[in-house]
Amino acid sequence: MSKHLVVYRKLSDDLLAALRQHFQVSYFDALANAELPAFREAAARAHGLLGASVKLDRALLDSARELEIISSISVGYDNYDVPYLSSRGILLTNTPDVLTETTADTAFALIMATARRVVELAEYVKSGRWQRSIGPSLFGTDVHGKRLGILGFGRIGAAVARRGALGFGMSILYYNDVPRPDLEAALGARFCSMDQVLAEADFVCLNLPLTPQTEHLIGAREFGLMRPETIFINASRGKVVDEQALIAALREGQIRAAGLDVFEREPLPADSPLPQMPNVVALPHIGSATHETRQAMARCAVENMIEGLERRRPPNLVDPRAWESRGQ
Ligand code: DGY
Repeated sequence: MSKHLVVYRKLSDDLLAALRQHFQVSYFDALANAELPAFREAAARAHGLLGASVKLDRALLDSARELEIISSISVGYDNYDVPYLSSRGILLTNTPDVLTETTADTAFALIMATARRVVELAEYVKSGRWQRSIGPSLFGTDVHGKRLGILGFGRIGAAVARRGALGFGMSILYYNDVPRPDLEAALGARFCSMDQVLAEADFVCLNLPLTPQTEHLIGAREFGLMRPETIFINASRGKVVDEQALIAALREGQIRAAGLDVFEREPLPADSPLPQMPNVVALPHIGSATHETRQAMARCAVENMIEGLERRRPPNLVDPRAWESRGQ
C-alpha cells in the first residue's frame, strides 16, 4: 500500500503527477473554510503533509499518528513547532536557496520605492494632480552611495547587500550572530553592533528569521536610535518588529519612511494605519512571489517529500536530529 500524502497548496500538474507516481495523494489546492474538515480528516491519516502558509495546530498534529514528514513550501519555518515535531521524529523540510535572489529583489524594490517615493508619486499622476513640474516637497532621496545597514547577514541579507554594494555603490554595515569575513572581503561590508547599524545606516534592512529571540527585537528603543533620515525596510517577518512602535516612529518623524512586505498580522487588518501613510510602501507578503520562484520552491518541496517518504535523507532538513533519531 502506497503512503498517503496530503497536499494543501496549489501545485502545477507536472509536480502533482510526480507525487501521484509515488503516493496516494489527497489534494486541497486552496484551503477554504469549507474544506477544513475534509483536510483535517485527511491529515489524520497522512504520512506526509506538503504545503505552506497554514499553521498546523497541535490537535491536528496529535491526530496524525502516522506522520513522517512535513515539507513546507517556504524558507521560513516559524509556523511550525520544531522541538515538538523532532520529539516525535517527524521530519520538517523547507526550501532555502531557490528564493534568495527573488526575495532580495523584493527588499531592494522596497528600498527604491520608499527612497524615490515611487508609489506615492505614481498615485499623484494617476489622480490627475500632476499639473506642473514637481518641487522639493515631492523630491525623494538618493539610494546610490548611501549606507545600507543589514540586520541578519544570511543568504537573503547578503544578496541584498550585494545589490547595494555592487549595483549602487553603497557602503554596507551589518549585524549578524557571526562575522562574515568572506562577504567583508567581497563587498567591503563592516561588522557592527545592532545599535551601530541602527544609528548609522541610511537604510536599515531587516533580514532576520522569527524566533523566540527575535520577536519584537525592533521596538521603541531601536527606532529611537535611528535618525529622521532613516528608511526602514522589512521583507523578513512582521513579528520581529513591534508594529505599534513602528507606527509611532513614523508618526513622530523619528524615521523618514518604511517599506514593508510583512506585518504582525497577515493579511494586514483593514484598520491598520500603515497603508494610509504616504511614506509607507506596504506589500502583501510577496517576497518570493514570482512565477519562476514559486515553481522552484514547489519543486524543491516535492523533492524533499519524495526523499523523506522513501526513507532517504531529504536535502533540506530543518532539524537534522529528527532524521538521526530515526537511527538512519
Ligand atoms: C518564506 O518562504 O518563508 C517566505 O516568507 C514566503 O512565505
